[in-house]
Amino acid sequence: MKIQIINGPNLNLLGVREKSIYGDASFESYLVELRKRYPNVDIEYYQSNVEGEIINKLHQIGFEYDGIVLNAGAYTHTSIAIADAIAAINTPVIEVHISNVHKREAFRHHSALAASCRGVIAGFGMDSYRLAIENLTLK
Ligand code: DQA
Repeated sequence: MKIQIINGPNLNLLGVREKSIYGDASFESYLVELRKRYPNVDIEYYQSNVEGEIINKLHQIGFEYDGIVLNAGAYTHTSIAIADAIAAINTPVIEVHISNVHKREAFRHHSALAASCRGVIAGFGMDSYRLAIENLTLK
């Protein structure tokens, strides 16, 4: 089974950025734990700060992989282009957020992507990614 995690803008700074919201672990260190937990799942990781690169990645793997876990960062709230890319591919996408976006500023309450996704997981810290993988690996 192949699952792709895609992190969008500013998520390369996890562990450094706004630690009171996003915690102090880097995504790379979390990924080591996640891969250990799912030894039979091939978990690939991609991060980009560029909207078009996220779209290219969705196109590249979205007809081949078994699942995609997408934290599109702030593009979640604005990007019709990423929503269209999710709708265009076959692989199910789960939208995730580390923080509970609904407890935060009003502009974070809207997702442009959610309607094109299988579901949304938000507010469980890094564990949001594991919860998404848990769903994608259900048979
Ligand atoms: C985020 C929430 C977004 O509103 C924000 O722009 C991010 C991170 C999260 O994981 O909580 O960059 O997606």
